[in-house]
Amino acid sequence: MAAVGIDSIGFYTPGFYIDLRELAEVRGVDPDKYSIGIGQDEQAVAPSNQDIVTMGAAAAVKVLYYSAQYCSAQPPRQSQPDDIGLVIVGTESGVDASKASALFIHGLIGLSSWCRCIEIKEACFGGTAGLMSACDYVRTHPGKRALVIASDIARYGLGTPGEVTQGAGAVAMVVSEDPHILAIEPYTTAYSHSISDFWRPVYADSAIARGRYSTEQYIGFFRKVWDRFSAEAGLTLDDFAAMCFHLPYTKMGMKAFSSILGTVGSEARGQLEQRYHSSIAYSRRVGNIYSGSLYLGLLSLLDNDQSLDPGDRIGFFSYGSGAVGELFTGILQPGFGARLHARHNKKLLDQRHKLDINEYEQIFTNPIPYSSEDSTADIKHADPRNPFILKEVKDQERIYGRQ
Ligand code: HMG
Repeated sequence: MAAVGIDSIGFYTPGFYIDLRELAEVRGVDPDKYSIGIGQDEQAVAPSNQDIVTMGAAAAVKVLYYSAQYCSAQPPRQSQPDDIGLVIVGTESGVDASKASALFIHGLIGLSSWCRCIEIKEACFGGTAGLMSACDYVRTHPGKRALVIASDIARYGLGTPGEVTQGAGAVAMVVSEDPHILAIEPYTTAYSHSISDFWRPVYADSAIARGRYSTEQYIGFFRKVWDRFSAEAGLTLDDFAAMCFHLPYTKMGMKAFSSILGTVGSEARGQLEQRYHSSIAYSRRVGNIYSGSLYLGLLSLLDNDQSLDPGDRIGFFSYGSGAVGELFTGILQPGFGARLHARHNKKLLDQRHKLDINEYEQIFTNPIPYSSEDSTADIKHADPRNPFILKEVKDQERIYGRQ
């Protein structure tokens, strides 16, 4: 059977951020708590003209129209890819209770209508559910590719313990046979158990988290799937070149990873730790993007670590509150480095506009509301790097366009 996996991967994050040391100062917290205790430096802020659709579409355009236009805000000019048979959006920030955000994105980016468009929800696990479904689809539909988008805005509320773990962004991946970047290995271990560690009622725009309990559950789920996976797959940590974790905040992954790092020798441990640090570089500057966090970690690892080789095995721990955990692996493919866009990704982060805390609070408290009223999006804070924009909600319909 042909290998199946990630053929291209790209991300988008809004053009606005806050410096968490400034947030700490305003909140009366020791800045080291945020930068060392939590492991976050900056946080992406999404103005109301950006939502999961516009962010997801911006990321999708990059991976589909893979070319010099990668960095461009101009609409792609290449011909429409007609071999995309499935578009899946994994998200927990859905914009409609009925219509899939994949359809809004499908319309914006101009894909052929001969495909299946759906949305998947299970907290931060949605991106992985999408990736796994896409791999199954490609395995059973020879010659077809799938587009997987993980797009979210993490909101907890001003002054809450979760505030420092907010963020916004989207990761898009094209899944195909004979992938250029990462072949997903078929054996995976998933574990599901209904708990209340984090949730968002349908009428609310911010999540509720039982903070410490959620971190304990994350670690508990990791140990469950790791122990079973390694026993059944016959793999030990020595068989891994790197591990990527769902990153609600960057210290979280290391808390879980530490519980197994003692099983390898000091040289291997040093290398795994170093690569973990490469995998969290982007998340330190973006924050939690829920369903896309694990994949932002993969992108960060590949862009920032120059020592990985084709054939190396990367492990992935996906966690979605509620909760589902899954351990799976992938093998780096020959020439994977040529498919990356490290310079562009760094620019995407470096060329954002820093908001002061007052501006951030104004943006945060003026989202498109969960109400039947008409509402116009904040066009003052537009990001010229994203061709797509939410203009308004009129007669309870979301109106998207290009800028
Ligand atoms: P908190 O109560 O503000 O923080 O909440 P804390 O008091 O527990 O401190 C955090 C760490 O900072 C501690 O280290 C302190 O010692 C340290 P730890 O014990 O964890 O190793 N600290 C300092 N370090 C250096 N200098 C200092 C200093 N002061 C303290 N001066 C919490 C933190 C993460 C709980 C909160 O931000 C929160 O509730 N976040 C949201 C929930 C969350 O992210 N949970 C993670 C697991 S669940 C998950 O991953 C799923 C999720 O992504 C959602 C989904 O699936 O959709 C969230």
